[in-house]
Amino acid sequence: MKPTLWIVGGSSGIGFELAALYLKNNYQVIVSARKAIGSTSLQALSAQYPETLKLVDTDVSDTQSVLEATEKAWQSFGGIDTCFYNAGVYAPMKVKAWDIAKFEQMTQINYLGAVRVTTALTPFFQKSGKGSFVFNASISSYFGLPYGGGYSAPKAALMNFCEAIKPELETENIDVRIINYGFVKTRLTAKNEFEMPQLLEPSEAAKIIYEKLNASNRFEIRFPFLLTSFLYFLRCAPRRIAFYFTSKTL
Ligand SMILES: NC(=O)c1ccc[n+]([C@@H]2O[C@H](COP(=O)([O-])OP(=O)(O)OC[C@H]3O[C@@H](n4cnc5c(N)ncnc54)[C@H](OP(=O)(O)O)[C@@H]3O)[C@@H](O)[C@H]2O)c1
Repeated sequence: MKPTLWIVGGSSGIGFELAALYLKNNYQVIVSARKAIGSTSLQALSAQYPETLKLVDTDVSDTQSVLEATEKAWQSFGGIDTCFYNAGVYAPMKVKAWDIAKFEQMTQINYLGAVRVTTALTPFFQKSGKGSFVFNASISSYFGLPYGGGYSAPKAALMNFCEAIKPELETENIDVRIINYGFVKTRLTAKNEFEMPQLLEPSEAAKIIYEKLNASNRFEIRFPFLLTSFLYFLRCAPRRIAFYFTSKTL
């Protein structure tokens, strides 16, 4: 029996590459996004894997849509082993250009969408006696960086949420893991006007995620080493020192 993976937010970038990689490795994959069914790249992947790829539309900012999509995703192959929550949006903003609608959208998709999917899927996992959640956060969750707070605050909330639910869900044989990593070249980071250190291609990031998830059962997966170490240092360092460094990025 092939393992089944549901990728929520897999129409482009890292999620799309993950879908292609898991299919290549004999998984049954369900990909969701707002217009997964209408996506030309997903349709092309579907033509390559007609038996093992299913597409289910959902908008994670809409609770009803997530409930319906979860039911459809579960029925697609008669169960789900792992849910990979990958949906995310990013809008860097200076204080003088703050846009509340963008803050709301980032909170809805980067954090609350994950809560909606967890809420909808957990009863299915409980009924089947097992399951696994993987959440794609970001190393920006370690420390708020100038202009990026609207993105990183919901990612930090996601990280905190995962820490909170892990012990409880573990008692029901439901695993919770989180991935924190640096810059990957996608439409999301195309909005950055600065040079991004240790920038990876989406296919490289997907390969690292795939390998690290298989290599251990660690709660957190993080990469690349230098960048994650620096952000982790900011998180642990006295605030005065951390702000010395972050104010240099203005
Ligand atoms: N790129 C990086 O450097 C980087 C670094 C760390 C973490 N991440 C995280 O990695 C994940 C993937 O990002 P990416 O860079 O690959 O960006 P991307 O290509 O823009 O992918 C984002 C995915 O989220 C989906 N999505 C957005 N809004 C949605 C909604 N309301 N409902 C359902 N799906 C929605 C998109 O699908 P549709 O728009 O088709 O609905 C798309 O499939 C995100 O969570 C991001 O925060 C990225």
